[in-house]
Amino acid sequence: MKSVTLIPGDGIGPEVAFSAKAVVDALNLGIEWEIINAGKSVFDVSGVLVPDELYNSIESNRVVLKGPITTPIGKGFKSINVMLRQKYDLFTNIRPVKSITVRNRRFNDIDLVIFRENSEGLYKGVENEISDDEVHALKIVTRTASERIIRAAFDYALKQGRAKVTLVHKANILKKSDGLFLGIGEAIAKAYPTISFESVIVDNMCMQLVMNPNQFDVIVTMNLYGDILSDLCAGLIGGLGLVPGANIGSDIAIFEAVHGSAPDIAGKGLANPTAMILSAAMMLEYLGFTHEANKIKRAVATVFASGIGLTPDLGGDGTTETFTKVVIQNL
Ligand code: NAI
Ligand code: MG
Repeated sequence: MKSVTLIPGDGIGPEVAFSAKAVVDALNLGIEWEIINAGKSVFDVSGVLVPDELYNSIESNRVVLKGPITTPIGKGFKSINVMLRQKYDLFTNIRPVKSITVRNRRFNDIDLVIFRENSEGLYKGVENEISDDEVHALKIVTRTASERIIRAAFDYALKQGRAKVTLVHKANILKKSDGLFLGIGEAIAKAYPTISFESVIVDNMCMQLVMNPNQFDVIVTMNLYGDILSDLCAGLIGGLGLVPGANIGSDIAIFEAVHGSAPDIAGKGLANPTAMILSAAMMLEYLGFTHEANKIKRAVATVFASGIGLTPDLGGDGTTETFTKVVIQNL
């Protein structure tokens, strides 16, 4: 028996989180869920954003499946998503972007993986109001954090038999901070002679991805660029409903989709749960259930190949619930 923490989240979070839970439950792996929420919905009732019960659960289970949590824009509390990643030092954010449907398709056979530095950069949230006219945001880059994310990307490439690592930066302008990241990448690349290495400036990278994404394999980059490129890449394969993710530290991991709480479609049964279902598959892989994770990926692929029962973001007439049922039928 393995106990896992489930955070339903806000907006479409509960819809997609319970869909992923249903798929995992259908495999009868003896996974026990501790369901504890955090965020605005909890705050409105209890006055706390993250209950102690959630921290205790994460620290005892050490594996979490998490729905998206809403963050107020331009005011209010800081992102709980970012806080959890930093609190538990989940320094590696892995986001596999793989073509699975012909719907909304712009390219064939995209298969790339984004490694996003997940612990520092502008996401440290150090902002200072200097005057009415001037505000500073501090970009914090350390050798330690840069080395570990770049190594993680190369180790992954080696283990998965991938050919190339592309490091994305803006070191032409941010000579010291991005320059440090780039320099570390160039040095580490020498220790992996079988993997080719290139560095690309982030603005050019956006153009290259939109013109010819098939040239990329493993991408490693800093926190903000990784956030932006993730959504861009999701758009290349059919949308945010399709890309899963993992936040991995030394012994705690949180699995969640790339997308947010999608308030525009929340509560309507329109959310595509694929990204969360595939995040759950990444979680099973992490727990050692590789065979079962593959079963989920195959079931999802079968449903997409049939094109039946897909959700409206992909032009289908399915709902979150009916899509989940079809995936379960194909397990
Ligand atoms: P979003 O990712 O929630 O939505 C962007 C667009 O994609 C919307 O049109 C939405 O309907 C669509 N979309 C997203 N997921 C979908 C799905 N599963 N199926 C179908 N369509 C989907 O980004 P937005 O609107 O910028 O952010 C909303 C909230 O989510 C904000 O409060 C933001 O801070 C939060 N957020 C939380 C994240 C997390 O918990 N890790 C990650 C990203 C955003
Ligand atoms: Mg994002």
